[in-house]
Amino acid sequence: MKQAGDRIVMVTAYDFPSALAAEEAGVDVVLVGDSAAMTVLGLDSTVPVTVDEMLVLTRAARRGLHAPLLVGDLPFGSYEVSDEQAVATALRFVKEGGCDAVKLEGGSAVPLARAAAIVAAGIPVMGHVGLTPQTATALGGFRAQGRTAAAARRVAEEARALQEVGCFSVVLEAVPAEVAAAICPSLDLVTIGIGAGPATDGQVLVLHDLLGWGSGGSARFVRRYADLHRQAVAALTAFAADVRDGSYPAPEHCYGIDPAEMEAFRS
Ligand code: KIV
Ligand code: NA
Repeated sequence: MKQAGDRIVMVTAYDFPSALAAEEAGVDVVLVGDSAAMTVLGLDSTVPVTVDEMLVLTRAARRGLHAPLLVGDLPFGSYEVSDEQAVATALRFVKEGGCDAVKLEGGSAVPLARAAAIVAAGIPVMGHVGLTPQTATALGGFRAQGRTAAAARRVAEEARALQEVGCFSVVLEAVPAEVAAAICPSLDLVTIGIGAGPATDGQVLVLHDLLGWGSGGSARFVRRYADLHRQAVAALTAFAADVRDGSYPAPEHCYGIDPAEMEAFRS
């Protein structure tokens, strides 16, 4: 798709129905993002989510998908310790989760070594630079990255280094559009942007942000295409009212019994 100049569509999904929807919409790449920690598990950040929790969600998404590439997001703490830990975790996402590839965050020495080790084990790796939520505290919070010449150079160097260790793709998150536009043309790996402007090979958004589903705040880069939370509240409010005033269930929701059987039952 990159060679053909076709823009790549990526979205997160964390369960069977969202995967079915992504498949039917013709999405190219589905990421079981560790954003699930916040969007579906209600945690304050992505830091606490575990591999076992991610794998439950990954298997559910896998069951709803055929055509899209499925990428599993290695959660914080599941790949930093050693190359062996990183490969073992990545293998679980492939063998237990059914992933085609895995993603990890960062472009410094440790994530580069882990990415190289996972690639060497035969598993495609997507990198992630710019704003890396797992280490947002070390970055000084959730804020755009690469907004000084030195910081932009760091983003460029990290993306290039991920390419050099064999990543097939990299996510650029929350970097100035002009910086991404300057970096991307010289990269051979597939660039996917979120808050990185239009110059990347593709775009990703978090499913719950674009559907307006849940309580998530929305970053500058989110475009909301639906308001599922409002629709869900309206539907549940209507159900509650129908139960309370007796208008649900109606005759069409009830099972019948042969009158003779009912008579025998009564007597
Ligand atoms: O976890 C996630 O949803 C992500 C994407 C925003 C790239 O990492
Ligand atoms: Na993530």
